[in-house]
Amino acid sequence: MNKKMIVISLGGSLIVPDEIDWKFLKQFKKIIETEIKKGCRFIIVTGGGKTARKYIEAGAKMGNIDSDDKDWIGIHSTRLNAHFMRTIFKKYAHPTINTNPYDLESFLKAKESILVAGGYRPGNSTDYISILLAKHFEIKKVVNLSNIDYVCDKDPKKYKDAKKIKEISWPDFQKIVGDKWDPGSNVPFDPVASKVAAKEGIEVAILNGKKLENFQKYLDGEKFVGTTIR
Ligand code: UTP
Repeated sequence: MNKKMIVISLGGSLIVPDEIDWKFLKQFKKIIETEIKKGCRFIIVTGGGKTARKYIEAGAKMGNIDSDDKDWIGIHSTRLNAHFMRTIFKKYAHPTINTNPYDLESFLKAKESILVAGGYRPGNSTDYISILLAKHFEIKKVVNLSNIDYVCDKDPKKYKDAKKIKEISWPDFQKIVGDKWDPGSNVPFDPVASKVAAKEGIEVAILNGKKLENFQKYLDGEKFVGTTIR
């Protein structure tokens, strides 16, 4: 099968910004279906979104939950979103979601146009999973859809003079995000995933998934608004 395969790390903030954003998902689904008809295949890795954060916050109020416990709650939220994704794409999606990027037997045999994966183990993020899957399938480009337009040189919520970045090298990006995993942190792309992407020469485009016309431009290979890390 030589169809073009695209890896999407779909931020949980788009699936569940607060409530489940079914209106966004409906538009997203339209775009993906159109691309499938043009002959593309997709690996979609779903984030946890507010579901993860709400459970983690509630758990913390009930008593001490350690960082692994928090991650596991996050992981199950990503898996719930993954199940939801394969359900809404039932006609096109492989029936089982991947929850272990080191066991790809089922994915490798799959003939469907969409493969959906969720989180794996504590200490990771779905960004990391998307890079591992890209590596395994020898795909050199990953698109990370989240709710930001650009990566900035510092946190734009804290610093008014933060500058937008259109293109950046992995070493420079790593200077911004550091190199350690911080559970529940809100960096534009996971530092551990960044290390692997840098090593494997995988390019990551970060764009605002809410602006679906812009995402369409990315898919069509046109100029898009967002940050490319390579
Ligand atoms: P993500 O951080 O990947 O999802 O997973 P997200 O909701 O898309 O995050 P944002 O919106 O981009 O910030 C949610 C949480 O699940 C745990 C982590 O705690 C992570 O913060 N997780 C996820 C893991 O521990 N391992 C995984 O493989 C995936």
